[in-house]
Amino acid sequence: MFQLMKAIICYLSYSGNTEEIAELLKVRLEARNFHIDMYSIGYGVVPNLYEYDLIFLGTFTWDKGSTPEEMKDFVKEVGGKPNNVYIFGSGDTQFGGDGLFCKAVDKLVNFYNCDYPGLKIEQSPRGSQEQLVTKWLEGVLEHAKSKNIRT
Ligand SMILES: Cc1cc2nc3c(=O)[nH]c(=O)nc-3n(C[C@H](O)[C@H](O)[C@H](O)COP(=O)(O)O)c2cc1C
Repeated sequence: MFQLMKAIICYLSYSGNTEEIAELLKVRLEARNFHIDMYSIGYGVVPNLYEYDLIFLGTFTWDKGSTPEEMKDFVKEVGGKPNNVYIFGSGDTQFGGDGLFCKAVDKLVNFYNCDYPGLKIEQSPRGSQEQLVTKWLEGVLEHAKSKNIRT
């Protein structure tokens, strides 16, 4: 029987910017016939990420380049380091310039040993930055294919 490819998009968002990126990814993946589950970190039971073909994790950056505590707790609860994780996030260069911009994305990319770069969006992805989301996702799918992850 034909089975849809399954992806999960887990995100932490206080003011909605990271959630908007998550929604854009969802729409684009559904257009490619993925079954998408969304998980807003901190709400409800942490899903079993190991059931998915692709895992997307999104976070904002906080407090001088820090990863928010909720995200750290989530990572601990998930446990282990699945090898099909892709990281995205929202930040703001006003809080420390390029050096601290979306630093939590870099930290998660390092933690999960991702060999595909994270997506960094300045505040909301709406407008011209939507293109960045689209291009990044195309790259993700190519990358996953090259690693023989089912896409
Ligand atoms: C107190 C505070 C500290 C922040 N520190 C950083 C930072 O170090 N680096 C960064 O890129 N963005 C920083 N930001 C900006 C947020 O990451 C940015 O507004 C992001 O879009 C929020 O995402 P959300 O709407 O999903 O909650 C900070 C914001 C606040 C309020």
